[in-house]
Amino acid sequence: MSLPRHSVDRAAPIGVFDSGIGGLSVLQALRAALPGEDLVYVADSAHTPYGERSDAFITERTSAIARHLRDAHGAKLLVIACNTASAAAAHVVRQDNPGWPVVAIEPALKPAAHHTRTGHVGVLATRSTLASRKFAALRAAVTSAHQEVRFSEVACDGLAASIERWAQGGDGSASRDLLARYLGQLGELGAAAHAIDTLVLGCTHYPLIREQIQQQLPLGVGIVDSGLPVARHARRLLHSTGLLRAEPLGDEAPLSPASLRLLATGSVHTLHAAAQRWLRPMAAPLPDVETLAL
Ligand code: DGL
Repeated sequence: MSLPRHSVDRAAPIGVFDSGIGGLSVLQALRAALPGEDLVYVADSAHTPYGERSDAFITERTSAIARHLRDAHGAKLLVIACNTASAAAAHVVRQDNPGWPVVAIEPALKPAAHHTRTGHVGVLATRSTLASRKFAALRAAVTSAHQEVRFSEVACDGLAASIERWAQGGDGSASRDLLARYLGQLGELGAAAHAIDTLVLGCTHYPLIREQIQQQLPLGVGIVDSGLPVARHARRLLHSTGLLRAEPLGDEAPLSPASLRLLATGSVHTLHAAAQRWLRPMAAPLPDVETLAL
């Protein structure tokens, strides 16, 4: 792969972004899989949620943030830690930045098809993700490879937004109520024949409340998300392009400790509170959240 000059520096950071705090669930997995890599995280919190917006709007925001991470931070790799932005705009970012490695995320239908015993998988995601051509193609490909498996989906309007609000404080009852409603719409959950025994969290916000989701599921229902597969994919991609910082070549100087920058286009308070809650065990001390005017 030929790479543009700005991205051949192995010491450059990885750029990660989401509409808001959801991408922190992917950031956690990236930190675990790539402990030597510097990370710059952008939350487009001034425009969250994306899930009920138009493709044109999501593409414009995704392109602007990708450009910022490439030009202002020299990111050597972009991780779109948002299913909604990946489905609507990953192809545009790739087209606009030939040779720049871009990792997109998709709902974990393939792992779920391997996991299910009843042959019935439930998918929770945003309206935009579920309506996308990307999702239709993924579902068709997985169904054709696993003809015994069927998928039921529910568009979870408002759920990501309620998780953003929960991060700022409150008891989370709005998220729990929405969850109960959407799980109810999915159909029978459990290990009985034909019931849904595997639940795909197809939005990166949802793994942040995994515990609360698990509490509402009957025993025997497994949860799958895409954080770990995405982190592994990012690692493989960096390795194959010679951009992995954790593996210095020749007599290169020892590595400096990895850094983390957190940027928000909207509320710095929300991202700070969310990072404290979901990243603290891995990143001490947490950096201040910077405002990004974009
Ligand atoms: N976290 C995002 C995703 O993975 C989207 C949430 C939203 O902005 O609606 O789809």
